Amino acid sequence: MKLMVVGGGGREHAIIKKLKENPEVTEIFALPGNGGIAADATCVPIGAKEIDKIVEFAVAEKIDFAVVAPDDPLVLGAVDRLHAVGIPCFGPEAKAAIIEGSKVFSKNLMKKYNIPTAAYEVFDAPEQALGYLATAEYPIVIKADGLALGKGVIIAQNRAEAEDAVRSIMEDKVFGASGNQIVIEEFLTGPEVSVLAFTDGESIVPMVSSMDHKRALDNDQGLNTGGMGTIAPNPCYTTPMAWVCMEQIMIPTVRAMKAEGRTFRGCLYFGLMLTPKGPKVIEYNCRFGDPETQVVLPLLKTDLLTIMRAVEETRLGELNVEFEDGAACCVVVASGGYPGKYATGCPLTVDAAKVGDALVYHAGTKLNEEGRLVTSGGRVLGVTAKGADLESAIKAAYAAVEGVSFDGAYHRSDIGARALREAQNLK
Ligand code: AMP
Ligand code: GLY
Repeated sequence: MKLMVVGGGGREHAIIKKLKENPEVTEIFALPGNGGIAADATCVPIGAKEIDKIVEFAVAEKIDFAVVAPDDPLVLGAVDRLHAVGIPCFGPEAKAAIIEGSKVFSKNLMKKYNIPTAAYEVFDAPEQALGYLATAEYPIVIKADGLALGKGVIIAQNRAEAEDAVRSIMEDKVFGASGNQIVIEEFLTGPEVSVLAFTDGESIVPMVSSMDHKRALDNDQGLNTGGMGTIAPNPCYTTPMAWVCMEQIMIPTVRAMKAEGRTFRGCLYFGLMLTPKGPKVIEYNCRFGDPETQVVLPLLKTDLLTIMRAVEETRLGELNVEFEDGAACCVVVASGGYPGKYATGCPLTVDAAKVGDALVYHAGTKLNEEGRLVTSGGRVLGVTAKGADLESAIKAAYAAVEGVSFDGAYHRSDIGARALREAQNLK
């Protein structure tokens, strides 16, 4: 089978490595892929948002099955377009991807179907929003409606910060048309859990839970990033909690999307907060999380392509999807300066002996003219190790990180530390 994977980050590298385990797979094309993915797939210089070119390529190459991984092409309708030319795909069509593409849509969906989430108001003009802020309680959370490269959520500590956020989103349009509407919502507290789930619109199969680490520096200091590391499973997500979330959040969401005529097929990402008043949805994503995928897929025992095809053909319920009992930890190695300005083009060295069995997923790398691996992005590598338990997975991941280097490389040294503390508290 000839496969095509749209995207070019660490998440896509993890997906491709897993897809390769299926013996029926003869070739995988990555659009555009990256320097490290080039060792596992044929990289094609077509960007993830170039929908016309993606479809043209898929038809010309007679692709048997496509996976569209990033949010942008999903929201732009890449899966609809591939379906229209008869190519089976893993990923939601645009009418379902809106669950991530519009926060106003997802908040209204949750309200309509009684799915627990933070209390909120929607605004489409800055004057109304500013008026509302005069009597609001702080901190408060301000969210641009549309996609904003993961930067569209602002936690304002006071009225001045909130007014700045409203003005920059709605008047200065820092996120373009994504800021035509905003959601202003209640600030929630509690541990955060990411749960990715396979769903074909009828059945839902949650994957092992995980925890992201979004801030750049240790102890959750520094700026927000795309994610500096992950662990799985998340110890806060106990079996009883998983049942509550399944009943109150996951099944109702899948049913709600179907009832709205927006059946969701693909990977539905639940960003949850376990608040003192019970679990609540912080956000939905219409895709695999990054870097959550880099800890979740290595623990998947069932063949990924088999699951993806079952999702596309609405027969997920027939499968028994299994995960390993152990744990995994992914430490992201980033370019000095990220998420601000950083250098690119720095040569990478990987010491295979130190890396050992760990998986080195490439995110921001490319092959230069001489065919040498160099850095090309903020988050450069995700180093994942597995272990019998969380503690050994974390230890192994940090040992492997010693084996990768480039000028200016930095990583957090406390990935998983909070999870270990939470696990102790739960004992
Ligand atoms: P996002 O950019 O949508 O991934 O959101 C970024 C982060 O903002 C989340 O991971 C949460 O930590 C935080 N966040 C979003 N909504 C809320 C909320 N209502 N209360 C507290 N924190 C929130
Ligand atoms: N790790 C968060 C996300 O993928 O949006």
